[in-house]
Parts: sequence; structure tokens; C-alpha cells
Amino acid sequence: MIGYNPYSLEGKTILVTGASAGIGRCTAIECSKMGVKVIITARNKERLQETFNALEGEGHKQIIADISESEQIEKLVESIDKIDGFVCNAGIAYTELVAFYKEEKILEIFKTNTFSMMLLTKFLVKKKKFNKPSSIVYTASIGNVFSAGVGNGIYGASKCAVDGFMRTAALELAPKGIRCNSINSGMVETNIMTNNTRITAEQFEEDKKKYPLGRYGKPEDIAWAIIYLLSDASSWMTGTALKIDGGHTI
Ligand SMILES: NC(=O)c1ccc[n+]([C@@H]2O[C@H](COP(=O)([O-])OP(=O)(O)OC[C@H]3O[C@@H](n4cnc5c(N)ncnc54)[C@H](OP(=O)(O)O)[C@@H]3O)[C@@H](O)[C@H]2O)c1
Repeated sequence: MIGYNPYSLEGKTILVTGASAGIGRCTAIECSKMGVKVIITARNKERLQETFNALEGEGHKQIIADISESEQIEKLVESIDKIDGFVCNAGIAYTELVAFYKEEKILEIFKTNTFSMMLLTKFLVKKKKFNKPSSIVYTASIGNVFSAGVGNGIYGASKCAVDGFMRTAALELAPKGIRCNSINSGMVETNIMTNNTRITAEQFEEDKKKYPLGRYGKPEDIAWAIIYLLSDASSWMTGTALKIDGGHTI
């Protein structure tokens, strides 16, 4: 049957946070190739415009917002029409040893990686922005869920909390026809690997050897799984944390 595709996203509208780079940019572009109208958001105007220019098809929207600020989250949600999917992806990495933790830094990482996911979900639900059915995908991590790393305590905890929240959201939102799942990703080649972390190029090369499939992930490896979770092909799946890590945690 030519044209048969249970993974189709044709005609859906999907909001993607963290769309100015890496996994979010790639997901937005891949979704647009599948007939999605995407609403992309991030802080950096130039980089978000680059993503916007790379989208296929018509009817897309871009909105500048800092998702670590709850007022900006509320404004962002108010400015959009109804959606069929939400890729809750914006996040920052951070490495520090326990003895050197600073409260402000813990707060910054949790505001961006964790509080934002809860508040975005809250406002989208409260302001009735989801069509029925809809799907939410949160980008969590293998970090501290399946494997711990020196210096990864704050970031890892912020991502464990995402999985924890996702399960409750899945339960509460199922009656509204909204599915919630997350992705626990291993290392993916994006800017996050070098922004805000103290990991050297040599350490990355050494770490790559621990991946049985012989490489770090590409943004497409995660984007295509997100597409599955957004599509009706996963319509009996909710509350699941999907691990994608090149075999790292086997
Ligand atoms: N790459 C990996 O190895 C990996 C592994 C596991 C999980 N993840 C998770 O996957 C997600 C995407 O990561 P990535 O690797 O694609 O990172 P990336 O290339 O650094 O992109 C991060 C995105 O988040 C946005 N962002 C950060 N802080 C923001 C804020 N306060 N407000 C609005 N947007 C903000 C950035 O946009 P602006 O700077 O323009 O605001 C950017 O678009 C993150 O949640 C990350 O924790 C990544």
C-alpha cells in the first residue's frame, strides 16, 4: 500500500522548545518534513531564525522566550493556538563537584531543566491548548537515571526529576487524551557537550569507547524517536521513559 504510514504527523501542530540548536532544531526540521506546522521557541533570535529558515512547508511560527522565567512561559503559552504535540526539550548541562555546589547554580539548572517542564505543561493544560488526542515528549537523560558520572549531580538530578514528573503527568492527563513520555538519551553530538561543562576533548574520546555501537548519537537518532512518540503509532504508550543510548548502559 503506497502512502500507508502509521507514523504520519501530517496536519499536526507541534510546539518545540529549545529549537534554536541541537536536538530541538533537528526535531523541528524533521517534523516539518513530515507535514507538521511547528511552533519553535528559544532565547537566541539569530539561531532560532536559522532553524525557521530550514523548515519545510508553510504555516510555522517562531517565538522568543526564556523558559526559566515563569511569566515568559505563561506569555508563550497564551500566544499559541491549539497543538497536537509538545516537545519539551530546552535544557542546559552543567558539571561541578559536590563540595563546590552553589545554591544559585542549582536553582538556575532546575529552573531551566525541570521547573520549566512542569510549568509549561501546567499552563498548556490550564489554558486548554491541547487537542484530543495529543502527545508530550520530554527530553530527559540516561545521566543519573541509569548511570552516574562524577560532576553530574545537579544536571542528573534535574533530569531524574523530569522522568518523575512525566509519570504523574501521564496518569493525570490520560483522561484528557494527552499522552506523556520521555526520552533518556545517551551523549548526542550537540553544543550542550561543550557549553557549561568542563569535559575535555580527550575525555570525550575516552567516553565514546564505552558505547557498544561505536559512536555518540546524532540529533536525528533522538528526533526520529520523538516523531514516533508524537505519532499515532505510539497511541497506546504513556508514562514510558524510552532509553536511547547506543547500548551504553547495557
Ligand atoms: N546532547 C546530549 O548529549 C543530551 C543527552 C541527554 C539529554 N539531552 C537533553 O536534550 C535537550 C536538548 O539538548 P541539546 O543537546 O540539543 O542542547 P543544545 O544544542 O545546547 O540546545 C539546547 C536548546 O535549549 C535552549 N535553551 C536553553 N536554555 C533555555 C532557556 N532558559 N530558555 C529557552 N530556551 C533555552 C537553547 O536555546 P537558546 O540558547 O537560544 O535559548 C537551545 O535551543 C536538553 O534538555 C538536554 O538536557 C541532551
